[in-house]
Amino acid sequence: MGQGSPNLFENNIFANMRSGVRPGGFMLTKRIAACCNFQHGARVVDIGCGTGTTVEYLRDVGGLYAIGVDLSALLVEQGKKRTGDLQLIQSSGEELPFDDHSFDGVLAECSLSVMSDVGRVFAEMNRILVPGGKLGITDLYARDRSCNFGACNSSGIMTYNEMAQVLRDHGFKIMVFEDQSRFLKEFVVKFIMEHGSAEELWQCAGIEKSDKKTYKLGYYLLIAEKCS
Ligand SMILES: C[S@@+](CC[C@H](N)C(=O)[O-])C[C@H]1O[C@@H](n2cnc3c(N)ncnc32)[C@H](O)[C@@H]1O
Repeated sequence: MGQGSPNLFENNIFANMRSGVRPGGFMLTKRIAACCNFQHGARVVDIGCGTGTTVEYLRDVGGLYAIGVDLSALLVEQGKKRTGDLQLIQSSGEELPFDDHSFDGVLAECSLSVMSDVGRVFAEMNRILVPGGKLGITDLYARDRSCNFGACNSSGIMTYNEMAQVLRDHGFKIMVFEDQSRFLKEFVVKFIMEHGSAEELWQCAGIEKSDKKTYKLGYYLLIAEKCS
């Protein structure tokens, strides 16, 4: 999503989703927290947090010190209205307003693929994490490994190999990779039942109709560790 272009996630349909705008909801958030083995009080930041549903969950259910960052001032505002004492900051993932080595964990749930410069986001994540800090991602991916990054689609969706390369280039080692595509199917079916079509969803993700068939859209969960 380019700076200055309209943020389609500010649409009321998405802003009012109670367990966030992502396949798997809190089930996958719980799985990320378990895989990362965060200790009570661990400092974590959720990048592309929307209205902060995950920040609230990690704080209240997980006992973590959780902060959220989102590009949208409107979504941050809505999150703070819903729960006054949530720590939500309006900022871009490409320029995080935090000190070096100040977090034990970083999450990005269904947000990386809509960010304009993933390399810069990973560099920032690496900078703010302590050595050995954990990165938990859930997102769309292209299951067809023959696709080439940037060539096969108009969105920021990558194949596993492309993602692994960018992570390595930015000082991360992959610890866990799981295909969670069944949650994508469930999410899309539920969305169609509630809203009549999934067009708004694909539009938000920057996906053209023809793209879906070309690169076999899937959903993954990935845990990586910052190399010391
Ligand atoms: C699919 S929504 C996911 C929101 C949230 N993670 C959830 O699960 O409900 C993607 C979010 O990424 C945010 N976003 C897009 N580009 C961003 C950027 N460069 N930096 C920070 N947030 C961004 C959008 O405003 C939106 O809230």
